[in-house]
Amino acid sequence: MTLQTLILQGDCLQRMAELEVQGYSFALTFLDPPFNQGKEYACFDDNLPEEVYWRWMEEVCRAVHRLSLDGAAVYFMQREKNTEAVLRVLRETGWTLQNLIIWTKRTSAVPNGWRFGKQYQIIAFATKGRKPRLFHRLRVDAPLRPEYKYPREDGMFLTDVWDDIRELTSGYFAGEEAIRDKQGERFHKQQSPVSLLARILLSSTKPGDWVLDPFAGTGTTAVVAQQLGRHSASVELDPRNVACIRWRLESRREADSIAPLKHYYRFTPNLEQIWGEGNDRSPYTEGQFSLFERSEPYGGV
Ligand SMILES: C[S@@+](CC[C@H](N)C(=O)[O-])C[C@H]1O[C@@H](n2cnc3c(N)ncnc32)[C@H](O)[C@@H]1O
Repeated sequence: MTLQTLILQGDCLQRMAELEVQGYSFALTFLDPPFNQGKEYACFDDNLPEEVYWRWMEEVCRAVHRLSLDGAAVYFMQREKNTEAVLRVLRETGWTLQNLIIWTKRTSAVPNGWRFGKQYQIIAFATKGRKPRLFHRLRVDAPLRPEYKYPREDGMFLTDVWDDIRELTSGYFAGEEAIRDKQGERFHKQQSPVSLLARILLSSTKPGDWVLDPFAGTGTTAVVAQQLGRHSASVELDPRNVACIRWRLESRREADSIAPLKHYYRFTPNLEQIWGEGNDRSPYTEGQFSLFERSEPYGGV
């Protein structure tokens, strides 16, 4: 099987419409849009009026629904304060909620004077139709809590609370995986960890499936899909990020390898079939729309 990795520069609604015309359909979509937090971005307004932002998210979810196979999955990541809006948007655009995943932060909580400090993000897992077309129940070798008397002999099934994946925070703790520029600054503050995408792809796809990321950022979805033998299409508006995705796929950094994770999932039945044969040597396909040149090297990596 020749693995296909499409990288498309441009607005995701436009590119998704083109993918639809070309007859693509996807088994899984990872939705990690800008959170409308008023951050400074070169290419888009991250300070939209609330209703405009959520109307946009509705359009995105509708477009993803049209591009999805029956039973396909969407994983929609957001800040916990937007939970209500996420659930509404998914429901109103035809998705069936399966889980509201709590991804707890491993670093410190955001402090707050008059309520509990915030320490998680939500990931709404929903499907097109009542049942997923497939779902792999992954078993992990989760660390034992102090109150557990005996070690588990064969791990445990994952639940909807994910407290074992470290986010790539700013600063020292972001570690090797975080892409940095020559000055050592984070290239993209919202870069998702490869271990998060590995879990999502392993749970809801099989080798040979197509995976979509409409807000690709640094291309974490594509990087993981390629290692797990899944085809992928990544859309990203900012040409600098698109260049970064290209560089990241080409450079195959050690820090992006998901191989070390396999041991953690070793108690999963049929892990070999689920994991798939990554075709590390497959060239990615330039989307006909990607018109960019890398303007600067990414130092430090
Ligand atoms: C939260 S980040 C995604 C980070 C990504 N998960 C990663 O691992 O790097 C959201 C991305 O969406 C991109 N974006 C914003 N508006 C867009 C649009 N209309 N179409 C496509 N991408 C867009 C931004 O440039 C940003 O890189």
